[in-house]
Amino acid sequence: MKTSIIKGIGYYVPENIVKNKDLEKIMDTSDEWIQERTGIRERRWVLENSDESTSSMGTEAAKKAIDNAGISHDQIDFIIFATLSPDYFFPGSGVLIQRNLGLKEVGALDIRNQCSGFIYALSIADQYIKSGMYKNILIVGSELHSGGLEKSTRGRNVSVIFGDGAGAVILQASDDLEKGIMSTHLHSEGKYAEELAVISPATKKWIDKLVEDPDEDGSSYAPYMNGNFVFKNAVVRFMEVINEALVKNNLTKEAIDLLIPHQANLRISQFVQKQLALPNEKVYNNIMKYGNTTAASIPIALAEVIEKDMLNEGDVLCLAAFGSGFTWGSALIRW
Ligand code: COA
Repeated sequence: MKTSIIKGIGYYVPENIVKNKDLEKIMDTSDEWIQERTGIRERRWVLENSDESTSSMGTEAAKKAIDNAGISHDQIDFIIFATLSPDYFFPGSGVLIQRNLGLKEVGALDIRNQCSGFIYALSIADQYIKSGMYKNILIVGSELHSGGLEKSTRGRNVSVIFGDGAGAVILQASDDLEKGIMSTHLHSEGKYAEELAVISPATKKWIDKLVEDPDEDGSSYAPYMNGNFVFKNAVVRFMEVINEALVKNNLTKEAIDLLIPHQANLRISQFVQKQLALPNEKVYNNIMKYGNTTAASIPIALAEVIEKDMLNEGDVLCLAAFGSGFTWGSALIRW
């Protein structure tokens, strides 16, 4: 029997910082509105015309995670790539990582679970490791949102929230059953698929149909979000799935040493923190600096937590996410 441990971690964010004040120049918004509703002060957006892409950022994060794990490229047995903003419609970005890193011809799987993509990826990787199939799995969460956002007053409720960046981990098989992933919990509710979605391009609405459609105004290419509805569902599902993880492991909320919620909105994180009665030092947030980086948000936050030496051996780490789909999930990890 094996358990899965996070052996290495790395992250990468583009250099270009976009402050709320910068957004005031391109849309009808304000620093005050954005900070009050979301907690976000700034985010990273790749420079227009730069060569950066979802896979190139993921590659940089992956290199750091591999280095941090102290393994060679040849030891990687499998790749899982989570993103909602892939370089191409197809193929997925996992194969681009395989190419960029010059890895062996290992399997590469892409995950399409948006804000819960990293938790889904972790859960799948954990099963492969516990079954004995693989020893080292590279998980990457990367998003280049800025290219797909509607940076105008029409798109302001979405575009102010999302940022670019990447995080990666090496999940490794271990014989020490006292450590590692204790359990993962995954859910979905497809009846709300269109409440937070990008509808085009899609095989149902391909280019020729869009060109022919006199009503097409480009809005189906931009993310749509029913913000209030997403918010209300998020706070309920975060709590449910964290409690599910605690119950599964016969633990109470007091056992959580650190909670890293997916960085959707600071107000969502604060609501969850209050419900769990956790002190500030037990909840890590960095949305202020990066906005919502979707599949990258948890690994970027975890990488910063490690950098800051905030986790001790034996600590119980709780990860939880909610997002488009709707999908949501949690993971409990003994560090
Ligand atoms: N700047 C200024 N005003 C804005 C704005 C912006 N960027 N975006 C929206 N507004 C306006 C709206 O047009 C609306 O104006 P009106 O009252 O004149 O109609 C007003 O602000 C309130 O909009 P509303 O959508 O009700 O605000 P809200 O308090 O729900 O906050 C979100 C909006 C998006 C911040 C909030 O709903 C949210 O965070 N939802 C969850 C988002 C999320 O987590 N998404 C990712 C899931 S993983």
